Amino acid sequence: MAPKKSSQSRRDFLKSSAVVAGGLGVLAFPVGLDRVFDAFSPGVQLLSQSYTESMIGKVSALVEGEPVDFRYPQEEQLSFLVKLGTPATGGVGPEQDIVAFSYLSSHMGCPLMGLYNKEHKMLGPCPCHYSRFDLSKGGLLILGQATQSLPQITLEARGDEIYATGVTGLIYGYASNI
Ligand code: FES
Repeated sequence: MAPKKSSQSRRDFLKSSAVVAGGLGVLAFPVGLDRVFDAFSPGVQLLSQSYTESMIGKVSALVEGEPVDFRYPQEEQLSFLVKLGTPATGGVGPEQDIVAFSYLSSHMGCPLMGLYNKEHKMLGPCPCHYSRFDLSKGGLLILGQATQSLPQITLEARGDEIYATGVTGLIYGYASNI
């Protein structure tokens, strides 16, 4: 027989645990749990955002190592598309080497235009605090004061056309990417 599902959510259960523990005067971890959930809520919002798709370039028009700028998901959010020449995390196209990222450092938002390093497939060093991001590994921080990866624009290739379909991570300076 299939186990019966509870209608009580995990959040409700933990909140009620906090009430019981508080009422008994017991020092228990669930006390203050609302603040923990609130701290995670931006991440939950990010997961639930629905992005519009936008055609941002063509596979046949890209030259390896030469970034092409575009704006996504909002008009004022400058991003770039680049063919790395080596397979990459989230890469699209025949070689799975076409990726896209925000131009704003994840640390304090300094712009990173003109700082693509073709030899190492990285962006940076950032002129503000020297962070460098590996574009072949999802914008992973290599060095510097940032603590988060560079936000990556998720892509889909449909034939020769490349579409932006979303963003992984929060673009600096925005409470919500869209
Ligand atoms: S703003 Fe770029 S590393 Fe601080």
